[in-house]
Amino acid sequence: MVIDEATLKEVEELKKDCIVLAHNYQIPEIQDVADFIGDSLGLCRAAQRVDKPYILFCGVDFMAESAAMLNPDKTVLMPDLEAHCPMAAQLPAKLVREAREEHPDAAVVLYINTRLEARAEADVICTSANAVKIVKALPEKKIIFGPDANLAWHVQRHVKDKEIIPVPAKGHCITHLLFKPEHVEKAREEHPDAEVLIHPECTPEVQLLADYICSTEQMVKRARESSATEFIIGTEVGLIYRLQKEFPDKKFYPLYEKAVCRTMKMNTWEKFLTQLRERKNVVRVEPKIAERALLSLERMLELSK
Ligand code: 13P
Ligand code: SF4
Repeated sequence: MVIDEATLKEVEELKKDCIVLAHNYQIPEIQDVADFIGDSLGLCRAAQRVDKPYILFCGVDFMAESAAMLNPDKTVLMPDLEAHCPMAAQLPAKLVREAREEHPDAAVVLYINTRLEARAEADVICTSANAVKIVKALPEKKIIFGPDANLAWHVQRHVKDKEIIPVPAKGHCITHLLFKPEHVEKAREEHPDAEVLIHPECTPEVQLLADYICSTEQMVKRARESSATEFIIGTEVGLIYRLQKEFPDKKFYPLYEKAVCRTMKMNTWEKFLTQLRERKNVVRVEPKIAERALLSLERMLELSK
């Protein structure tokens, strides 16, 4: 969609007291006006540096809640407050408490894609970019890890001396579950010179066929640093827009063009504009839960420096 000049001017004016943070899966129109685009880790770090009173967070609930916890004196807004990540709903806090009781000697590492009530039970949070690093940094040899069992598998593959216990046993992202080994085989046949970059939310069968396992931001970094000129992108299709824009001389092919996260796409241009103008969709975090959840988030930021 082409946004007219007058609207773009209005957006610039409205952004004078509001920073726009956007995840890599957001629609092109939002990416084009965002102040910062990144992965879950990059967005947390960006949220630590905000110097305006408002943050319009274009992503899903757990990301905006992290920004809100890191900025208690600022107003965090979302284009759509109903943008709840379905994976985050797979791990109720009760399940974390039960796992702790069952494995009292284990540390609890939770993927940032988790509801706040569960995150309040964690020792430390991680993202796809730093999960291996965080688990390695802990003294415990046993790790309760949730909710993504595929990311847990990726961590176990790189941390052989620890036992990773996935909780729940089969937590997953419905979007990344769409990728199948056949997609990789077909894409490699069609683009034999391309590097295959796969997100660790994909199944082990798909991960095993990758050249590199990357978070979304690590895919951008790989595209920048690699001498390859073609890439097969095994994550939600929204990232392709950013990659093609930043590296116009390279080519990016979606591993599967139907891998669209419906929740991320709930943030339409119209809803974005409405919130920039009206500022009503305020992200609220329950103070008692936020206080505990912030500790595990801050520990992650400290450990992944
Ligand atoms: P990253 O952008 O942190 O790799 O995460 C992907 C994702 O699924 C976020 O919901
Ligand atoms: Fe959640 Fe998957 Fe969508 Fe990310 S891509 S927000 S993990 S459903």
